[in-house]
Amino acid sequence: MHFRNHIFILFLALAGSTAGNPWVSELRAQEEASIRGTVTGKAGLLEGGYVGAHATGKTFTTYVMTDAAGQFTFRGLAPGSYGVFTRIPGFRTVRTDGINVEAGKEAAVDFQVEPETDFLKLVEQATNSELTESFPLSPAQKEALAYRCGDCHGAYYIAKSRFTREDWAMIVAKMDDQGSITPAGDMGPPPRMSRPSARPPSVEHPGSDDESIARVLWQFRGPDSPDFPIQFQPRATGKQTRVIVTEYQIPRLGATPRTVVIDPRGDYVWYSDWRANYLGRVNIQTGEIKEYPIPGVKFRPPGLQRLRWDPMGNLLAGQIWAGRAIRFDVNTERVTGIWDTPLEWARAGGVGICRSGPDGPIRYLITDALVRRQGWIIDPETDQRTEVALRWGGPVSDCDRGRSYNWEGARAKRAIIYRDPETGTIREFAILSPWARPQNAVGDPVRNVGWSVPAVIDRVVKADLNTGEVTEFPLPSHGKTILNIDIETSSDPPVLWFVNQRQGRIVRFQEYTE
Ligand code: HEC
Repeated sequence: MHFRNHIFILFLALAGSTAGNPWVSELRAQEEASIRGTVTGKAGLLEGGYVGAHATGKTFTTYVMTDAAGQFTFRGLAPGSYGVFTRIPGFRTVRTDGINVEAGKEAAVDFQVEPETDFLKLVEQATNSELTESFPLSPAQKEALAYRCGDCHGAYYIAKSRFTREDWAMIVAKMDDQGSITPAGDMGPPPRMSRPSARPPSVEHPGSDDESIARVLWQFRGPDSPDFPIQFQPRATGKQTRVIVTEYQIPRLGATPRTVVIDPRGDYVWYSDWRANYLGRVNIQTGEIKEYPIPGVKFRPPGLQRLRWDPMGNLLAGQIWAGRAIRFDVNTERVTGIWDTPLEWARAGGVGICRSGPDGPIRYLITDALVRRQGWIIDPETDQRTEVALRWGGPVSDCDRGRSYNWEGARAKRAIIYRDPETGTIREFAILSPWARPQNAVGDPVRNVGWSVPAVIDRVVKADLNTGEVTEFPLPSHGKTILNIDIETSSDPPVLWFVNQRQGRIVRFQEYTE
């Protein structure tokens, strides 16, 4: 059997024991507390509004949505003191602190929400998809902006900024290509990455040249441009509202989590940081976060990208800007191997595990993430390296590059795609929200569904192979900045884990079906 399937089955087998919301776990029924209430807007009881509950002294916040009757319920809470607040696009946040719940008791709190009128606050509340839709521009101009500015932080920085024509021209030139952008605060990428900055007119993407983009930006986000009305997508209704979202705040300032993977034993969710040399883990039961500094390379920006498990349960991480693979032993909590790539490789963020058959020798794969499509296969025992050519998106012989080849994100098509492993047939599921940039998708072979959390739209997308239906679930907080997301399905109902890079959070998402 293919090694990748091993890991997946292992996750499913272990999942049952870790299914709980941290607040629910280990609590016996009579010890559980709950908080319920209603949310009322101008037009009466409000459906599909997020309400968050934060236990005093904890690093995580749990969100549920109001149902058709405007009611929300937090079940299975640990007794204690909570702050409860609304998080509803278009409305001001209302918050009540010091709600004490005792074991076996239920506390009640009702909210009355007022429309938000402050433009910058509305910008904060909107997804990049909603902001782009709201820009007072032609579809072609929006397309050009999405093409040029959609990848890293998207519409948000544009919407909240105002600059003169000269300043926009400077910013556009600076933002010109991925290589010339460095994670804020570091020393800059290797010099070979910089390219000439002024981008010429393009046939495929008309209006995306530096000058046109700067002019458009200045027209609607110049010093005197009027603010534009922001149109939010309709709120969730019906089954879209039946979700529990928990956000774990990484306590380190400026944390930018990149990749998440569930520990094969199911105790922790591990993550890498995109702009800092840190690995970290979230304790699934308690929500506690622990971080591990990883050695860096002088004159190379810090940051890690991909994470994979090797069959011995070590974590393999791609240290992207430093161009190397790091092996971390999660039991001893130490780095146990470092493999450098040639200096010409500006970035080496991709890592994988290769094995010819279940008992074959283990090899590591490290790939030149963006520039040249090449990789090295490393024998971790002997340190021997073999260079391999890579085909974009395809597997490398028997190497698992951390993708689910059955499901994938198709960015250009704004769809997620299922490839039937037997027949090779492809099924495409179009994402409903505009401007989505689905990076990847994961499959749940038990329920025949695929999941994705595409950048730009800040929604979880579920594609059902049985019914052909696509369902989108809004999220309470928006990632906005670089939203490369990895998800693993784990329990029943399945739990998705992904990052909110901009806010420095690890997110747990569960659709409940009872
Ligand atoms: C390759 C990634 C990338 C692309 C593409 C990109 N940016 Fe940026 N941009 C960044 C980074 C990184 C920052 C620094 C702020 C940060 O750390 O988040 C930034 C910052 C900004 C800021 C300043 C925000 C502030 O208030 O500090 C503006 C404005 C901005 N970008 C506009 C644009 C525009 C307009 C485009 C399209 C022409 C664009 N960006 C394309 C990566 C990118």
